Amino acid sequence: MSAQKKRVYVETYGCQMNVYDSRAIRDGLARAGYSEVETPAEADLLLLNTCAVRDNAEQRVLGRIGELQQYQYARPEVRIGVLGCMAQRLGEKLVEKRKAVDLVVGTDNYGRIPELLEKVESEGRAQFDLAVDGTTTYQAPPEVDPLNNSHFISITRGCDYRCTFCIVPYTRGPLRHKAPTQILEEVRAVAEGGGVEVTLLGQNVTAYRHAEASFAQLISAVAEVDGIRRVRFLTSHPTDFPAATLHAIAAHPEISPWLHMPIQSGSDRVLRRMKRGHRLSDYMAVVDLARELLPDVAFSTDIIVGFPGETEEDFEATLRVMRDVGYDSAFTFKYSPRPDTPADRLADDVSEEVKRVRLARLLDLQECLWAERGRAMVGQEWKIAIEGTDQKGRGFWRGRTLNNRKVLIPERPGLGIGDELRVKVLRLEGTTFFAEPLSLTWKYDRVAA
Ligand code: SAH
Ligand code: F3S
Repeated sequence: MSAQKKRVYVETYGCQMNVYDSRAIRDGLARAGYSEVETPAEADLLLLNTCAVRDNAEQRVLGRIGELQQYQYARPEVRIGVLGCMAQRLGEKLVEKRKAVDLVVGTDNYGRIPELLEKVESEGRAQFDLAVDGTTTYQAPPEVDPLNNSHFISITRGCDYRCTFCIVPYTRGPLRHKAPTQILEEVRAVAEGGGVEVTLLGQNVTAYRHAEASFAQLISAVAEVDGIRRVRFLTSHPTDFPAATLHAIAAHPEISPWLHMPIQSGSDRVLRRMKRGHRLSDYMAVVDLARELLPDVAFSTDIIVGFPGETEEDFEATLRVMRDVGYDSAFTFKYSPRPDTPADRLADDVSEEVKRVRLARLLDLQECLWAERGRAMVGQEWKIAIEGTDQKGRGFWRGRTLNNRKVLIPERPGLGIGDELRVKVLRLEGTTFFAEPLSLTWKYDRVAA
């Protein structure tokens, strides 16, 4: 190691799991003597932690590597590394596409980055590690951001399902579950650092199962950690949703009654071709039971339009689910064929134009439904936790309800991040509610560092 500390810049694409992984990666590099910098211009090492879930995610990264190359032209000692799902998927092909890349590290090998970087120097050529051992998990140190109380903790990695459109099982490997003791250690570290909120993460978080705890037992134990006031989790899968999980949420006022549960399509025919492992009626059974057990439950979802063979009738079934469930938000995607996934063998036979129109119709419907439901919430009294200032600088505090609705209240002296208060909803703009504060219910005392 040279006398001067090397500087690393990390850019993260894709899901929250990548945000968590990037934290573990930065921690590993800090231990190996790297200091982190905020801009690529200052860095000796540029790392991109990437996503492969849709083609446009990959195109963005390829474009970005092209941009970052300028730093290498200016200082030839600058190294560029590609990590994550796209690295895992493309491997050496990445270097063929972008010669600037010096390092390609798949999702199970982040611990080897410092060693591989040394090899880049000693051997003078690009290095790869794409081995999938199927057991690796990462433990990122807690990072209690003074501007945000939420804190991501991965509890599973990978996925054992094989939804036919999805690249994740191939890029992130089989499902593995972190031990409850390890997870609780991370949660306690957050609480000890003054954090009050955690979000438990997994591609299919409800599939969590460990000899020492079921998912229901795990979220209960997390909610019971001293100092933790809010627990969220995502992404939920309807197939792994025993009533016990809903009972655990109902029994703990700390656990968010918000379920991000992708439906993907409202048509049983399409769900079968996607190999989602459930029918629409199974999904609706979870929704109905959740409504029964959790009075404040809110749902969000992911939907794909234009899956191979999707007819107008199939698509209309998707519109119907949207109406029947009434989502707070929906992440909607045009089907993007992923090489080597089972669906890639089916003809991508819904035209780009039809996909575009269906996507627009979904978004329109969601907007209409939400405006109607949201307007009916005006006048209600809610409890919110303050998370920060309004990013647009309009003199508001930004808060969230436990079930994940965004609320802005006027900035007031005596209120601050982490405080919980009762508010009255005044109006809705887009997905944001504006409210007036009623009374402070809990004052946040940040633990001194
Ligand atoms: N269970 C995972 C899913 C990961 S991908 C999770 O944690 O959310 C996130 C979403 O991207 C999926 O739910 C799906 O709606 C969408 N998606 C995945 N593969 C896709 C593809 N090939 N084309 C379009 N959208 C896709
Ligand atoms: Fe992908 Fe289906 Fe798993 S969407 S992450 S294979 S549950």
